[in-house]
Amino acid sequence: MIKRLALILVLAIVVVIAVLWWRENRTWDGPVQKVTASAAQIEQGRYLTQAADCAACHTAPGGAPLAGGYPLQTPFGTIFGSNLTPSADQGIGRWTKEQFYTALTEGVAPGGRHLYPAMPYTSYKGITREDSDAIYAYLMTRPAVDVAILENDLPFPFNQRMAMIGWNILFRTSAPLPASSEGSSAAWTRGRYLTDVLGHCGECHTPRGKLGQMQLDKAMQGGIIGRFSAPALTPEALAQRGWTPDDLQAFLSTGIAAQGSAFSEMHTVVDLSTRHLNADDQKALVTYLMGDKPPAAAAVTVKNEGGNDAGRMTWLNVCAGCHARDGEGKPNVTVGMINNATLRQPDGRNLIVSVLDGLPEQQFPNNQSMQSMPGFAAVLSDDEVAGLVNYLRTTWGGLPGNITPEQVKVLRQHE
Ligand code: HEC
Ligand code: HEC
Ligand code: HEC
Repeated sequence: MIKRLALILVLAIVVVIAVLWWRENRTWDGPVQKVTASAAQIEQGRYLTQAADCAACHTAPGGAPLAGGYPLQTPFGTIFGSNLTPSADQGIGRWTKEQFYTALTEGVAPGGRHLYPAMPYTSYKGITREDSDAIYAYLMTRPAVDVAILENDLPFPFNQRMAMIGWNILFRTSAPLPASSEGSSAAWTRGRYLTDVLGHCGECHTPRGKLGQMQLDKAMQGGIIGRFSAPALTPEALAQRGWTPDDLQAFLSTGIAAQGSAFSEMHTVVDLSTRHLNADDQKALVTYLMGDKPPAAAAVTVKNEGGNDAGRMTWLNVCAGCHARDGEGKPNVTVGMINNATLRQPDGRNLIVSVLDGLPEQQFPNNQSMQSMPGFAAVLSDDEVAGLVNYLRTTWGGLPGNITPEQVKVLRQHE
């Protein structure tokens, strides 16, 4: 009797898994959708597509716009952004606007296939139906590009989409993300939507837990993304690093401010998204980040005297030629170090990694450009990097010189 029950149970489990497997792997074959939309709705959709930075993950380097293939590196493996053009078989050409809204806000594609949360539905969950429809109208009226997307490179069990059913039970809620600042003005409310929903800033700037979920009790307190950290964006943290609302707006609209330049993933965010927002929306972003009552920016007292001599020698020998002797920088060549927010990040990670890896040449709006910065991993020892970083922190960062050679060693790239 017990044996028979056990057999039935095993069979039932096998059937359930088989059905789920079939559902997760079938391709949707609904009718091809014909979409007509007003010019105004298409224009609105274009604007929202930029505000939500869909291109960052859905345009491959050198590939057709929004035709997918961008390899997103995650701690679990590589996931490719899909083809968002109206291609019938490779893109979303057979999707209705209802299905599109469900994918964006719940992470479930037509037919019940579960998307990985690398697609940030955990932030997009708050997108309004109207905005989703406008994005849909924009995408569906672009030319169809029939390129197939590579298979994701994920090891078992992460390659089983049905595992996302469990992930969603644990981590998907429809509640808005916890606010990272205080406010109630119209600009703050709009800014919250632009930051937490469309701009999905917390997907990088909020720390993640072991299963890749955003740690919502630490909203905007800083996360790690590849080699760099996306530093804390709470009002207190921004003010501690010397940010004022005006400077933040300059940074988000041009990628350059008195506090330094946008680099790594943040350069892409500015380039593809925030610089295209209108001035009111940029202001709203800033209002939400700093709150309706922004805390005063902390000034840093430059301490050119004292500090550590070895660090100063390294600065003069390898850095000062570009960044200028007293750290004032050179317009259109390099950023300054005085008031640079990267020097004022308490954990020192971005400063250390910039020195070790260097930074690529970058273009900014208004014909601004920055040359590249070479990496110094092969030239400077752990002791030298720590001494240099401590010199910069105490001289221009207003921080203690407490970075150890061990911390540098851990951040070196190990092939
Ligand atoms: C942070 C990166 C990222 C951003 C930003 C992003 N996506 Fe995605 N998206 C992905 C990834 C990765 C996938 C593939 C997920 C998978 O394989 O489960 C995906 C999948 C999708 C799918 C499913 C397509 C299919 O055929 O399965 C749709 C629809 C989609 N994204 C729409 C959008 C739209 C619209 C935006 C902007 C509002 C956007 N995405 C922004 C990473 C992103
Ligand atoms: C060949 C010129 C060059 C040299 C040498 C150089 N840098 Fe840079 N550095 C740059 C440029 C250009 C940027 C801006 C990169 C960008 O945003 O595209 C930069 C950016 C930085 C940043 C990031 C800050 C920001 O706001 O962008 C830090 C920190 C930094 N440099 C520190 C150093 C230190 C420390 C040294 C010496 C070990 C050094 N640099 C040597 C050219 C140089
Ligand atoms: C794909 C990941 C990613 C997303 C999304 C992202 N950021 Fe960043 N952000 C970074 C990284 C990495 C840095 C560090 C490099 C730098 O300082 O430019 C950074 C730096 C910043 C800085 C400079 C902080 C400092 O003190 O140096 C600001 C301000 C900022 N981000 C705001 C935003 C806002 C606002 C959004 C949403 C519209 C956003 N970020 C979305 C990755 C991201």
